[in-house]
Amino acid sequence: MNKLINNLRKEENNPAIWVMRQAGRYLPEYRKLRKDAGSFLDLCYSPEKAAEITLQPIRRFKMDGAILFSDILVIPQALGLNLSFVTGEGPELSLLKTVDDIAPLRKNIKNIDKTLSPIYETIKLVKKELSEKHKSSNLIGFCGAPWTVALYMVDNHPSKQNHISRSWYYQHPDKFLDLIDILVEASTHYLKKQIEAGVEVIQIFDSWAGSVPDDMFEDVILKPLLQICKNIKQDYPNIPIILFPKGLHEHQLEKIVKQGCVGIGDNEKSDNRLFEGLGLDYGINLNWAVEKLQPYVCLQGNMDPAYLLTTPEIVRKKTNEILDIIKNSKNNGFIFNLGHGITPQTPIENMQTLIETVKNYS
Ligand code: CP3
Repeated sequence: MNKLINNLRKEENNPAIWVMRQAGRYLPEYRKLRKDAGSFLDLCYSPEKAAEITLQPIRRFKMDGAILFSDILVIPQALGLNLSFVTGEGPELSLLKTVDDIAPLRKNIKNIDKTLSPIYETIKLVKKELSEKHKSSNLIGFCGAPWTVALYMVDNHPSKQNHISRSWYYQHPDKFLDLIDILVEASTHYLKKQIEAGVEVIQIFDSWAGSVPDDMFEDVILKPLLQICKNIKQDYPNIPIILFPKGLHEHQLEKIVKQGCVGIGDNEKSDNRLFEGLGLDYGINLNWAVEKLQPYVCLQGNMDPAYLLTTPEIVRKKTNEILDIIKNSKNNGFIFNLGHGITPQTPIENMQTLIETVKNYS
């Protein structure tokens, strides 16, 4: 039974569930492993430990998707930038200082597996255990979208500052778009290697998609995302892809779906489409998305993670509200998820309530 994949193919009307950042700090068993390991990056590059962390939430909650434990910033690291994670501060990358630092990165694309190969080992270990013990859970691989990753390489802490990247694009569009293209190439290679190692679904995280003006959207969000999809589909047409472009406006979401799903494979069948799933953040009105987007694409989302900081009763009520909207839709294809990652402060009981409510809904 592949509930996740069947929803992505729009062949199933019972929602699947997984949760962004489901492997992480809200889990006591994660905090223990993390403490013993010393650093977050040690965990990412130790196949046994990373596999164990990927499986922790599956053992507890039996989600329909197991997301590989890693990070989107391993790509800039593999391209030669220094990366560290400072507890409480988040990631620290050695930055690109000027646009002239971009071109030299291209020659490093062919060497990224030197850094990334332990991650392919993690995938093999997880896949083995899933196929032996958790057959109903599919393995989700991922990467960051070019714009979001570029923002970390140029601005470092996008939540504090994110204007340098845009100024580079305005002043030196060709050079900045070369960075986007390098990231398209590196991400394509990385995702194909993940698929060869065993991932069954791909998600591309564009967490900062909403930080660009509309006239920049096509160049740095729409085209690069669809280019990665095209590259993957060329070799692996049957691997479903989920895009998560956070913070976009409704008309931008419509444009992505129109160019990636409509009139290509057309409605119900997924033959020639470029992607199968669209992750919605919690700012998007789900009724609107069900009406305008779900005829063409499987929707994923979009409960505010802050609900999980309340009580089981409130979690149950909100979860049922979302499921009622989906039940009343005439289209197939829904993956229950949060509208962004689960927060470390989430009580386990609330997560348990969320999963049970989705699984027991009829
Ligand atoms: O469970 C999963 O979702 C799989 C693992 C995963 C992590 N990061 C683990 C992680 C995934 C898919 C990511 C993606 C990621 N990483 C994104 C895109 C999704 C999003 O949240 O917007 C981004 C922007 C990053 C970059 C990143 N990694 C930041 C900004 C931080 C610090 C903020 C924070 O949440 O601590 C990280 C660290 C990180 N990545 C942790 C985990 C479990 C916490 C590390 C720790 O244990 O200290």
